[in-house]
Amino acid sequence: MGLKEIVDINKLPKHIAIIMDGNGRWAQEKGQDRLFGHLHGVESVRDIVEGCAEIGINFLTLYAFSTENWDRPEYEVIGLMELLVDTIKKEVPTLNKNNIKLHVIGATHMMPESAQAELQEAIDKTSHNTGLNLVMALSYSSRWEIIQATQNIAKDIKSGKLQPEEINQNTYNQYLTTADIPDPELMIRTSGEHRISNFLLYQLAYTELYFTETLWPDFRKENLYEAIINFQQRERRFGKTSSQVKL
Ligand code: IPE
Ligand code: IPE
Ligand code: MG
Repeated sequence: MGLKEIVDINKLPKHIAIIMDGNGRWAQEKGQDRLFGHLHGVESVRDIVEGCAEIGINFLTLYAFSTENWDRPEYEVIGLMELLVDTIKKEVPTLNKNNIKLHVIGATHMMPESAQAELQEAIDKTSHNTGLNLVMALSYSSRWEIIQATQNIAKDIKSGKLQPEEINQNTYNQYLTTADIPDPELMIRTSGEHRISNFLLYQLAYTELYFTETLWPDFRKENLYEAIINFQQRERRFGKTSSQVKL
């Protein structure tokens, strides 16, 4: 029996976020160039997206490229951009076949114009789908997002559209790139690093964190189901006591 049968489908996390890390080390272990790792990382993306769609996850956010990643060597940045855009373009028919809606969050204006156009096309072509929402975090960083939100709030206050006393968690949420997306319930990071690396700092406030040594290109559905089963065994208290949440 596979792990999929052990997952309790009545207790699924609505939103899973993943920091897909370890491509470079995976390639280096094999004596290959880092881009070889990114290429194989795409196989994991396909498998995990399919795995989430199969069990009925509503939202999957994948951290594919951070704003800090722009500072990597030029050949890697160019190679990654080409791979990302190429893959998204090629995957559109599969996304449609599986009823998956694509969303993108991040400072995408920093990406090459042709890449932005390809992304927009993929978003438009999948906009009618009603199954899994696949959120790609591209050129994303949480501090960028929070500053962006704050600037827009300040602009709306200045123009009289918003009053300072109207700012609460609901209004603030609407200024984030994840407006209308529920907070992740489970966040997975591969490759043994125990940090957040500027990912969804605000949204992860009460998210269950799961770290695994597995490098991203080796991460498959079975690893995902293992993480979900682990999540389902946890008690989420949101500040209350254990006996309160058991009521
Ligand atoms: C994750 O793998 C992919 C991106 C950050 C784009 P890395 O490229 O960070 O791989 P490691 O962490 O160097 O092994
Ligand atoms: C985080 O991985 C970003 C992505 C997976 C896209 P990094 O490899 O860039 O993070 P650090 O530098 O190890 O914190
Ligand atoms: Mg890394």
